[in-house]
Amino acid sequence: MQKFRIGLVGCGRISDIYLKNIAQFEALEIVACASLDFQESKAKAAQFGIPKACLVDDLMCDPNIDCILNLTIPAAHAGITLKALEAGKHVYSEKPFVTNTEDGLKILELAKQKRLMVGNAPDTFLGGRWQTCRKLIDDGLIGKPTGVAAFVGTHGVERHHPNPDFYYQIGGGPLLDLGPYYLTAMVFLLGPIARVSGMARRTFDRRMIENGPRFGDMMDVEVDTHSQSMLSFDAGQIGSMTMSFDIWDSEMPRFEIYGEEGTISITDPDPVHGANIFEGEVLYRTKEMSRWSHQPRPTDRGAWRVAENPFGFNYNARGVGLLDMAYAVSEGRSARASAALSFHIFEVMDAILKSCETGHQIEVKSRCERPEPMPYNFPPDRVEA
Ligand SMILES: NC(=O)c1ccc[n+]([C@@H]2O[C@H](COP(=O)([O-])OP(=O)(O)OC[C@H]3O[C@@H](n4cnc5c(N)ncnc54)[C@H](O)[C@@H]3O)[C@@H](O)[C@H]2O)c1
Repeated sequence: MQKFRIGLVGCGRISDIYLKNIAQFEALEIVACASLDFQESKAKAAQFGIPKACLVDDLMCDPNIDCILNLTIPAAHAGITLKALEAGKHVYSEKPFVTNTEDGLKILELAKQKRLMVGNAPDTFLGGRWQTCRKLIDDGLIGKPTGVAAFVGTHGVERHHPNPDFYYQIGGGPLLDLGPYYLTAMVFLLGPIARVSGMARRTFDRRMIENGPRFGDMMDVEVDTHSQSMLSFDAGQIGSMTMSFDIWDSEMPRFEIYGEEGTISITDPDPVHGANIFEGEVLYRTKEMSRWSHQPRPTDRGAWRVAENPFGFNYNARGVGLLDMAYAVSEGRSARASAALSFHIFEVMDAILKSCETGHQIEVKSRCERPEPMPYNFPPDRVEA
């Protein structure tokens, strides 16, 4: 495949892992980078051997760039994505997709009109762990899925992020920050969400930055920081989700899928490291192994079994969604981490926020296809090291 040439906008904290991974992906090439701070962009270009650091507008009109990688803060995502589409570039953006529905609709419309592709993080669901869950479900191991539960409790990001302000401003908060990982995984596994309700609270009105050069600075908290949601899926399953920046410790962190014939369980959805959960064990028990079973008991009854994982990307593979999108452009198919999926996830989160305000259940308007599972051999033209 011809190299997919990328211009990076946003040279902050998350850009390092993208740049490290993209350097390993044969089909991708970073040709330039920009941010609000030219010195930061220059330093990033020097660190990763990027040929050019420039201003955002120069990047947009560079004819050698096929796609803008948008790693700016949430409030800037839509503006940069729309600018890139106007400039005739494909776009892959960090989450959340947008911070309001109008921007989301504008992006979908402009991309369609210009025949350009928009992809969006999270791409964790393309990792081996989630692909294994999907295979177990599609193979019928737990029978018809009936429900899902996700619990992620953290105490925010001010102890490890040097500029954590955006996490506590409009467009931030645990639901919009962590929710995309778990909701995207749920939709990948079970299909789209039809109706939601939620409750949320804000435990601290001000929080202190506890690392880096700004140690001791206080931040105003504009959003709720402890959120619980109920989810009703199109296919009839129901789910619950707790996302929090207000929990010091818990024995609860889990992601579980319940079925008529068994349960799949992920026991450590990594609250500490910002949900870098491409990798890790997938456990299961079928009804024969269950402690509720009346059938003759296997000797390891009550124990969880570890599922075989034949898939790739069992590491912090941020950027694999962009890699898949590059192949999608070249093959004329849809990207897995697509704008339609991300818009649906945004609408689900927006509906949860509305439910928190009104106390009512809220219908989700948009729908999307369940993304296709990853093949075992991706990328198809990979050269084995
Ligand atoms: N830091 C993490 O661990 C992490 C993990 C997963 C996802 N993310 C997501 O990645 C995105 C970026 O996070 P980060 O931690 O790297 O933030 P950051 O504050 O460290 O960096 C943001 C970068 O975007 C640039 N920027 C901001 N507004 C801009 C604009 N209008 N035009 C051009 N450049 C602009 C800044 O100059 C900076 O280079 C966020 O959406 C976040 O949710 C972050």
